[in-house]
Amino acid sequence: MEPTAPRISLRDMTRDDVPAVKRIESAAYQDAWPARLFEKELANGFAQYVVAVEETADPPPAGPLTALRRAMFGGTHERIVGFMGVWYMVDQLHLVTIAVDPGQQRRGIGTRLLLEVFDLAMEAELNEIVLEVRESNDRARAMYEAFGFRKAGQLLDYYKDNHETAIVMLSGALSQAGDRIAAIREGLYAAHPGVFEG
Ligand SMILES: CC(C)(COP(=O)(O)OP(=O)(O)OC[C@H]1O[C@@H](n2cnc3c(N)ncnc32)[C@H](O)[C@@H]1OP(=O)(O)O)[C@@H](O)C(=O)NCCC(=O)NCCS
Repeated sequence: MEPTAPRISLRDMTRDDVPAVKRIESAAYQDAWPARLFEKELANGFAQYVVAVEETADPPPAGPLTALRRAMFGGTHERIVGFMGVWYMVDQLHLVTIAVDPGQQRRGIGTRLLLEVFDLAMEAELNEIVLEVRESNDRARAMYEAFGFRKAGQLLDYYKDNHETAIVMLSGALSQAGDRIAAIREGLYAAHPGVFEG
C-alpha cells in the first residue's frame, strides 16, 4: 500500500515557532530578517503571521522524552514547512513575507499559504492585496501571476543587499477574485489529495 502523504495544516505563528521560521527564512531568502524582528512582528496588532505545519504519524526519534511526547501529542509530531505574514492596511492587505522550506518547495505549500492570504483579506472585506517582489524572483512572480496579481509599479534600488528593483504587484479587486481563488483551491486539493485541510 502507498504510504499516505503527510498532512499540512495552517495555524497562527507563536514565539516558540521563531527559531524554526528563522531557519526556513535564512535558507529561502538572500536577505533574512533578524529573529527579534519576527518577535516584534508577533506583537504588532496590525500584523498576522501564519505557519504551515506538516503533521506526520511517525513517532519522533526515540529518546528519553519519547513516551512523554507520545502522551502529549498522540504519536504524531509536527514540523514547520513554511510561513507567511501580512499587515492590515486601511483598505489593503500587504503581503510582507512568504516562504517555504527549500526542501519542501513545489508541493503546493506556497499556494496553500497564498490562499490563506486571500481568505484573510476577503474575511476582513479589504479591497485588494499588495506585495513587493524582487524583479529576478521568477518563481514567486509566476505564483503571484497565477493568482491574478499584476505589476502596478516598481521601486528602484529597493533591496539594499544588491540594489535590486522591487516589482509592486496588486491582486486587483477581491470582489472579483472569488471564482479564480475557488478554482486554484480546487486544483490544489485535486493535485495533492489528503494533504491540505479543507
Ligand atoms: C515562492 C515560494 C513561496 C513558492 O512556494 P512553493 O511551495 O514552491 O509553491 P507551490 O508549490 O505552491 O508552487 C506555486 C507556483 O509557484 C511557481 N513556482 C514555484 N517553484 C517554481 C520553480 N522552481 N520554477 C518555476 N515556477 C515555480 C509555479 O508557478 C508554481 O505553480 P505550479 O506548480 O502549478 O507550476 C517558494 O519558492 C519560496 O519560498 N521562495 C523563496 C522565498 C521567496 O522568494 N518568497 C517570495 C518573496 S516576494
